[in-house]
Amino acid sequence: MEHLTTEGRAPAADAKRRQEFLDLLCAWNDAFAASSGRRRKAFLHTYGCQMNEHDSETLLGMLLAAGFEEATDQNEADLILFNTCCVREHAQTRVYGNVGALAKRKLEQPGLLLGVCGCMMQQKEVSAALYKRFPFVDLVFGTHALPDFPALLYRAAVLGERVFDGRGEESVPEGLPICRKKGASAFVTIMYGCNNFCSYCIVPYVRGRERSRAPEDILKEVKGLVKEGYTEVTLLGQNVNSYGKDRAGNGCTFPELLRLLNSVEGLERLRFMTSHPKDLSDGLISAMAECERVCKHIHLPVQSGSDEILRRMNRHYTASDYAQLVKKLRASVPGIEISTDIIVGFPGETEEDFEATLRLVEDVGFCAAYTFMYSPRIGTPAASWPNQIPDDVKHERLARLNALQAKKCVENNEKYIGTVQEVLVEGCDEREGQNAFGKTSAFKMIYFPGDESLIGKMLKVKVTKARSNSLLGEACTESVK
Ligand code: 5AD
Ligand code: SF4
Repeated sequence: MEHLTTEGRAPAADAKRRQEFLDLLCAWNDAFAASSGRRRKAFLHTYGCQMNEHDSETLLGMLLAAGFEEATDQNEADLILFNTCCVREHAQTRVYGNVGALAKRKLEQPGLLLGVCGCMMQQKEVSAALYKRFPFVDLVFGTHALPDFPALLYRAAVLGERVFDGRGEESVPEGLPICRKKGASAFVTIMYGCNNFCSYCIVPYVRGRERSRAPEDILKEVKGLVKEGYTEVTLLGQNVNSYGKDRAGNGCTFPELLRLLNSVEGLERLRFMTSHPKDLSDGLISAMAECERVCKHIHLPVQSGSDEILRRMNRHYTASDYAQLVKKLRASVPGIEISTDIIVGFPGETEEDFEATLRLVEDVGFCAAYTFMYSPRIGTPAASWPNQIPDDVKHERLARLNALQAKKCVENNEKYIGTVQEVLVEGCDEREGQNAFGKTSAFKMIYFPGDESLIGKMLKVKVTKARSNSLLGEACTESVK
């Protein structure tokens, strides 16, 4: 068979070929189970954002379709896969440490398969260095090779090759098996890649250009999820507001997509992330206001409150443009909560620039802010700029920003005390006797007494107390649905 060649990289994936490799892997795993009395198990480490989490759901889907079982503990695994992130250095360093720590285990368990994939492996120099530094790693592949995982795994696992695939061709894969987390909420990718090239960010280099899925494929997936019992869907993309722009009339815009999905019978909640402020249109604000299933929350990264820093970050908006957007959103979608991402210590950030960020945080009143110290990423423009900020200054600014945001969070949460909120129950937690938890439409986490039988239900919960990152409450007797 031509596609079983051991030369070069595996051929482009299509559903039929992928299935052939899954079948071959299944047969290999079945033979092992017949002789050993147990099935091979796979364990996945996932770093980074929701896109990566969702890629891991796809990797796991393919592994299960290939006849593996999921291991709950790395120590019982026959295959360990690291799905990596490279957005900040910290995530990258952890991968080196965790992969390196498996050298001894590989000596004791020679049949153990080790793979490293994801964004970090889409950077040529980094993946080549890791492949060289850790000769006991069997399989290395980047984000663009993900649809070909069954073929690559076949070569590593069955043919015993060391496999490296850093291909650059971008695709819009359809029909991959996905093993989602249990519960009521599911991720659905609507687009891949990013065209924005913010000067600090590595994502456009490792995820490629914006590629939108066809609306009919997204609709079919969402309808299928509702049939499986999911009631909340989060649409994923690096910049969902530019969804469809690359399809040149052969599709729809993001607001149109929201309206299309809003009509899916049985779907309770529709969320999306991430939105770039420069592309947030009036059309989207109207769609959010008019679609009853679209939740009252938007994740809208501001990154900085200083116009000069925003300009150098290549963000294409000013702090006052951002404040205007917030005003419009709040006027059109009453009760909407806004969360954000902020970077401190960007090259050249002065105390005045940082204070502008603090002022913006004070004025906007975010429900949550994910705050980061700037991390230079090789290959991005800002990494080679002068005036890099010393670590101690970054730490000090981050601490001040976090202290302010913690105070704002409590203030913001206090307004909910005494109100009754609709909560989609996600799970149970043993802490403080507040066993069940779930989110409001506005993305507020509420803990309240309850048990596992409530998971997946939509309940009315009365808020009794505000904490910095969550609310406490009591379930009202009747459920909403
Ligand atoms: N350093 C620090 N934070 C970064 N982010 C992206 N690149 C970097 C970097 N080089 C943050 C941004 C983005 C979030 C996902 O990660 O705030 O919105
Ligand atoms: Fe990175 Fe900017 Fe694209 Fe977000 S919009 S992924 S920060 S380049």
